[in-house]
Amino acid sequence: MEQANSFLILFLAPIKEFLGDDDVSEILINGPNQVYVEKKGKLEKTSAVFPSEPALRAAASNIAKSVGRMLNDDNPRLDARLPDGSRVHAVIPPLARCGTVIAIRKFKKDTLSIEKMLSYGSVSEDGVLLIKALVALHKNVIVSGGTSSGKTSVLNALSSFISNNERVLVIEDASELQLQQEHAVCFETRKADKNGNGEVTIRDLIHSSLRLRPDRLVIGEIRGGEALDLLQALNTGHAGSMSTIHANTPLDCLFRLETCALLSGVEIPLMALRSQVASAIDAVVHTARLSDGSRKIIGISEVLPLKDGEYRTRDLIGWQTESIDADGKIHGQFVLKNRPTFEEQASILKIALPAYP
Ligand SMILES: Nc1ncnc2c1ncn2[C@@H]1O[C@H](COP(=O)(O)OP(=O)(O)O)[C@@H](O)[C@H]1O
Ligand SMILES: [Mg+2]
Repeated sequence: MEQANSFLILFLAPIKEFLGDDDVSEILINGPNQVYVEKKGKLEKTSAVFPSEPALRAAASNIAKSVGRMLNDDNPRLDARLPDGSRVHAVIPPLARCGTVIAIRKFKKDTLSIEKMLSYGSVSEDGVLLIKALVALHKNVIVSGGTSSGKTSVLNALSSFISNNERVLVIEDASELQLQQEHAVCFETRKADKNGNGEVTIRDLIHSSLRLRPDRLVIGEIRGGEALDLLQALNTGHAGSMSTIHANTPLDCLFRLETCALLSGVEIPLMALRSQVASAIDAVVHTARLSDGSRKIIGISEVLPLKDGEYRTRDLIGWQTESIDADGKIHGQFVLKNRPTFEEQASILKIALPAYP
């Protein structure tokens, strides 16, 4: 590992500084002459350059080799990880028009704790109480939001409230989550090899995990047919499971789950599917990256039973923008909305909830 590391670093010398900089969250290489980094949520162009396109291509090929893959005309796209866990995606010419393109999403050594999110103003104390209650009450929660809105970070924070004596099965495409629980068992999918063999999908791993006696399932992200497997797992037990999905609103999250479940290829009437979604999912925690670059939990909503075949959600808390500075900074506050339907359940178990007016 160490050796592979120093070998790779040789090829990645032009961006070594950014790989070592904990403030840099992403490194984006668009051909040899253009390197951008994301620092504290803001993209900036750097003066770093690679000596030539072949040198950059060699770096990408070596990343591929280090994970036993090839990057060539037959396999012009690469998903890989650096030895430190950072995620890499690369595309080579002629698909990439400006030369080899590489995006590196740095592996966060210290994932965002809920305390940090509080201090950044990403969530309010009331929001934290609601999140804690959802986990303690074993509600099934989906974290929704746009690309890079902070879904995975929120899922990680949610998982930190799972008690230590529960057996948690974690399934991801590329390991990002860092569960602190003693009894967390983590799995990662595998892509097919160059002959198209050996693929192991999220669906496969959900099937396995159900035979491994989970108390809760934590699935990194739902993107396709595995939605159906998750819904079925949730409707047959495993309360307190959680995942993320790309969606624009809490309601959209439910429709996305539905659409993903249809991708499973299993024939199921839409209404049956819809009622599975509504009964499996108890709450949606919605994240967003606002126009000033700040990331927030902009809403927490409960999912109510279907009415006349339509989804219904009940907003418990939401972000309200009040003003925007000349320099674009957004000001506002988190506002309590409807009382949770699980108020009584929480009070019996002495679980604190926000003081609703
Ligand atoms: N509340 C937050 N405040 C500041 N940065 C955040 C926050 N949440 C996430 N980030 C950062 O934003 C980037 C994307 O977060 P991530 O959770 O991976 O988003 P997603 O899963 O939606 O793509 C990461 O670098 C992460 O550290
Ligand atoms: Mg994510």
